[in-house]
Amino acid sequence: MALISFFSAKGAPGTTSTAMLTAALWPRPTLLVDADPAGGDLLMRLPTDAGMALTQRPGLLTLLPLARHGLAPGVVLDHSQVVQGGQRVLVGLDSPEQAEASAAFWPILGRNFHDLPGTDVVLDLGQLSVRSSQMSLAERSDMLIGVIRPTPASVLHMRQRLTALTRTLATLGPDAPLVGLVAIADVQQQAEASSALATVLTDVPEVHHLGMVAHEPRAERMFHGDLLVRPERTMLVRSGRSLVERVRSLLDGAAPDPDPAPAGRGADQVDQAGPAGSGAQAGSTDAIEAGDASGLPDGGADAGAAQKEQPDADRPMSRRDLKKKKWRVQR
Ligand SMILES: Nc1ncnc2c1ncn2[C@@H]1O[C@H](COP(=O)(O)OP(=O)(O)O)[C@@H](O)[C@H]1O
Ligand SMILES: [Mg+2]
Repeated sequence: MALISFFSAKGAPGTTSTAMLTAALWPRPTLLVDADPAGGDLLMRLPTDAGMALTQRPGLLTLLPLARHGLAPGVVLDHSQVVQGGQRVLVGLDSPEQAEASAAFWPILGRNFHDLPGTDVVLDLGQLSVRSSQMSLAERSDMLIGVIRPTPASVLHMRQRLTALTRTLATLGPDAPLVGLVAIADVQQQAEASSALATVLTDVPEVHHLGMVAHEPRAERMFHGDLLVRPERTMLVRSGRSLVERVRSLLDGAAPDPDPAPAGRGADQVDQAGPAGSGAQAGSTDAIEAGDASGLPDGGADAGAAQKEQPDADRPMSRRDLKKKKWRVQR
């Protein structure tokens, strides 16, 4: 299924919120993954469907150690939680130390996300650079989307970052993800946002113009757990729908992948050999939690239980599922 990743170059332009908006409005079931190596935010933002606080377990912390042995299709869903409104999320790590301790497992995760049966995956990669371990997730994506604000700093940093990223991604040839750019801007700032997008895209013409998402603080509060009456009427949701449409048409227009698990990517090889083959140590939940990357045991007994496939992963969404889906956004 599709893997769509959001990233920023610097600052906090709205990467997490835009990923949440996209996951909420996407027309198929989605898993929203908090893969920000600086530490995830979802945990702090939303309660569970039952009104309880989200916890780090289950989440990336419980999933990553299992990746040592490769991951069965669909196993990531066993480590997800459902938040208020019905969105399925995979809660992130809580510090850069945890992210570093688990760096060897990201390529395996990337392949698993990409091949997840019945569910599209929306990733929040946080700040991305060609050297970050999140690059393996970016490379696996079908679409990689940069988020900017219409400010000189945001534009210049993204222009630099996209220049470096597109150069690196070009080495993947036909397996390279599509790359897009979206600007978060007030309705009154449309001219500035257009010129911000144009300024970046002049230097990286292969990057797709994905338009704007409305900067609308009151509506955006729904992504911090606040209830919102008729969100579908807000500019935020309307602009989010346009973003989803553009991404979908670009993905639909891309040449279909005849082989769901294409060979020839680095991550495949790592997946089969296990990260030990890449010189890395395995990490347990405790060790990752402590930010310790060295000499760690594997996921142990949890692994077997968590490796089972989702029984209904390929089931199409029912009308009831659709109604229940995601925050309170009506699609
Ligand atoms: N579309 C939006 N409208 C209004 N406020 C937004 C929007 N997107 C993000 N924000 C706000 O901007 C800040 C940064 O957003 P966040 O999604 O956390 O950015 P990042 O993930 O890039 O750090 C937060 O305070 C968030 O509430
Ligand atoms: Mg964020």
